[in-house]
Amino acid sequence: MSAELRLRIGSRTCPVRLGAGAAGELAAVWQPAWRSAAIVGDANVLALYGEALAQQARALSDRVVTAELPPGEAHKTRETKAALEDALLAAGLDRGVCVVAVGGGVSLDVAGFVAATYLRGVPHVNVPTSLLAQVDAAIGGKTGVNTPHGKNLIGAFHQPAAVLIDPELLATLPAEEWPNGLAEMVKHAVIADVSLFEWIEAHVDRLAGPTVLDPHPLRRCVEIKAEIVSRDEREAGLRSVLNFGHTVGHALEAATGHAIGHGRAVAIGMVVEGAVARDACGLPPVAFSRLCHVLTELGIGPGTRPGVPFDALAPFLVADKKRRGDALRLALPRAPGQMAGAADGFTVPVALAALRRAWEETA
Ligand SMILES: NC(=O)c1ccc[n+]([C@@H]2O[C@H](COP(=O)([O-])OP(=O)(O)OC[C@H]3O[C@@H](n4cnc5c(N)ncnc54)[C@H](O)[C@@H]3O)[C@@H](O)[C@H]2O)c1
Ligand SMILES: [Zn+2]
Repeated sequence: MSAELRLRIGSRTCPVRLGAGAAGELAAVWQPAWRSAAIVGDANVLALYGEALAQQARALSDRVVTAELPPGEAHKTRETKAALEDALLAAGLDRGVCVVAVGGGVSLDVAGFVAATYLRGVPHVNVPTSLLAQVDAAIGGKTGVNTPHGKNLIGAFHQPAAVLIDPELLATLPAEEWPNGLAEMVKHAVIADVSLFEWIEAHVDRLAGPTVLDPHPLRRCVEIKAEIVSRDEREAGLRSVLNFGHTVGHALEAATGHAIGHGRAVAIGMVVEGAVARDACGLPPVAFSRLCHVLTELGIGPGTRPGVPFDALAPFLVADKKRRGDALRLALPRAPGQMAGAADGFTVPVALAALRRAWEETA
């Protein structure tokens, strides 16, 4: 049985059903104004979960259309978004449609962006199927696509009308995808919750590979993210803390042509940015060591870093959209569960040279 959390996410209240069986509870969040459904997800997840969702939607609405995108970060593009929109338009779906976004972060980001602009905006329900999407991407309303200039540069804030988080769906997640979600889980712990960090340290064995997780860590991650987003929906300040590890992580993803998964890149990014935090924000060295240790135990430590020279990363760091003037602005912890720079939008100016030093030290 799932439990319903009514979270204030951004500017609205969002029902989040969390627990075994939640993916079968579309009826619990369906609204009468939604007269049709577009089930949108990548080919892998639609093959596994598309029909079960379509069946539920058929019982709730007049018309159900399924639209598929090819799997993988490489397809998180404007072209994919346009193809999905054309499929929905060709099916004649009007403003009474609810987009049911199903899949990992790629599917949810693209499907959510389609919902944000289709006929100037229609509602969407997120059904996250990867660990990364369950602990992070499904919550918070950031939607978008990548461009050749960098990740997530085109997009919209569009809060989901509801989220169904079903840990049973994690059982089919490919093993190599699991660590991507663990990285975002560790990130939530470092930025906001020492006790979640300790829980992860104590349960590394249980977290080693795809499994049906007990709802506790999922719930904490959802609560942490919802709390941050509700206080700063459009990233004027506090929401930046969610970017810990992401400045370097995004640059690494771009520099490797997305050969490395998002979460794995963020894990490397947390090590490099953690070293900067130790030097620039007083993050205690023992806290930095614990971070490196837990990431290593989870199989995403510094030793997993691909052999990329800093110079290959630098152009993407400089293009980072969080930059202000010449300095990069990074979200950095000053202690476990506490972020630096509260007086200045929760980012800290960091010179490229400091990042280079940290990159070389943590190789
Ligand atoms: N919007 C946000 O706030 C936010 C937050 C974090 C990450 N993201 C984005 O999320 C993306 C990464 O998401 P991801 O790691 O989930 O990758 P993904 O969506 O590519 O999914 C990884 C792979 O696993 C497959 N898959 C997913 N769930 C499955 C399941 N239950 N069973 C079998 N196969 C399954 C997918 O088909 C895909 O091949 C990045 O683009 C990142 O930018 C967005
Ligand atoms: Zn992320």
